[in-house]
Amino acid sequence: MEESLGSGDNQPNEYIYRLYERWAKGSFGLLLTGNVQVDERYPGLMTDIMIPSKDKIDIEKWKRYADVCQSHGIPTIVQINHAGRQSPLGKRPYKQPTIAPSPIPMSIGDNILARTLQRFVIGTPEEMTRAQIDEAVEKFADAAEIMVKAGFAGVEIHASHGYLVSSFLSPKTNKRRDEYGATPKDRMNFLFNIVDAIKAVVPQRFAVGVKLNSADFSAGGLTEEEAHDQIRWINEHGGIDFIEISGGTYEAPAMAGTEYQPRSERTRTREAYFIDFAVKVRNTTTIPLIVTGGFRTREGMNDAIRSNACDFIGISRPTCIQFNLPAILLDQSISHKDAQALQYDIRGVQIFNILPFTGVGSGIATLWHNWQMHRVAIENREPDPTLTVHGKILTILLKILKKSIPSIILLFGILFISVLIKQFFSKTAEKMTGL
Ligand SMILES: Cc1cc2nc3c(=O)[nH]c(=O)nc-3n(C[C@H](O)[C@H](O)[C@H](O)COP(=O)(O)O)c2cc1C
Repeated sequence: MEESLGSGDNQPNEYIYRLYERWAKGSFGLLLTGNVQVDERYPGLMTDIMIPSKDKIDIEKWKRYADVCQSHGIPTIVQINHAGRQSPLGKRPYKQPTIAPSPIPMSIGDNILARTLQRFVIGTPEEMTRAQIDEAVEKFADAAEIMVKAGFAGVEIHASHGYLVSSFLSPKTNKRRDEYGATPKDRMNFLFNIVDAIKAVVPQRFAVGVKLNSADFSAGGLTEEEAHDQIRWINEHGGIDFIEISGGTYEAPAMAGTEYQPRSERTRTREAYFIDFAVKVRNTTTIPLIVTGGFRTREGMNDAIRSNACDFIGISRPTCIQFNLPAILLDQSISHKDAQALQYDIRGVQIFNILPFTGVGSGIATLWHNWQMHRVAIENREPDPTLTVHGKILTILLKILKKSIPSIILLFGILFISVLIKQFFSKTAEKMTGL
């Protein structure tokens, strides 16, 4: 999960090490890091961990990251990403647009406020030239090469949730007429170029996976049928060691399990959001499948594995509260009924649904999970599932106010002195004119 801990130089730091040390002890079978940006100009968040150019990298920081994650024997895969049309302003000059297969802006709502915010914070992407496509491919390959040197077990190409690779795969955001978009299969070529470029620079034992959308869950976006074809083409192309199945984009955040998925009876029993899709594509590919989203109970997970719907269970949000959740799930002395993730309600999140922006509720819920990670990583405290959104925001505001006290005193001081000086001069002028 995106940790949002990369302030300053956006490199792995003490906070990241402390956070991943906790997960490293959690009895997971595999750790997948939060998305790491391959191009510093186009991150998902300004506080993401990012990969600088090969000549600027301090490899020791990345080696320590890999060591911490794998110190208890858990192989760790780094998710590599380019945020594309979903990249907000901050790391690139104001006038420089973001990049995407086609110049189709992201939508965060259909009202004037949302459109204005969208225009100034994200903007309309520029259609990528061939040179920009090649440059992005190279950046993914460079990232993989660095992760080999650091000692990680593999990389996962983030090709879901509406980011750059995902936007090439979707008919809604890829309107190109060249070999990167003229046909549904052509839309795969950007991903295939990345896979081939990575494979050319990593050793055989280094895993290369991909996270894919089962659908975009938005009008004109990737459908389940097309996503199914994409899995078949990936299988034919080769070079991919695992596929993680997810869904949605930041315009329709189905990965957060909101109203976007019409869940069938079967899915409800099985609890995971995208398991029906996994069942459908299971015989289309021999590549191992991970399904992420919604898994909470040992029974639900057992059911998915026993029924051969997938090979791996992905768990995200609950692990911000219970860093050792797998240990609990695997402990056979704990009954089936109790072998599940702690249930929690994020109190205060509903208030934000009145804001006129798409997915604001799931955005705040994501932030809440980041706060839990920050409690552990920055404050060296335990997570707190009772934390309320309004309470945390108030604390942040008070902190800002407290930090600003010297500036406020200085400001009032300057104002006071200016008034005194003005008074002094006007009195002197009065006296002089009175003379
Ligand atoms: C704080 C936070 C950060 C996330 N960061 C990422 C990320 O970097 N890459 C990614 O593919 N998904 C990311 N996700 C989505 C999760 O990986 C996952 O798909 C989603 O939370 C559903 O799984 P869950 O029900 O097990 O939480 C993030 C989710 C949260 C809450």
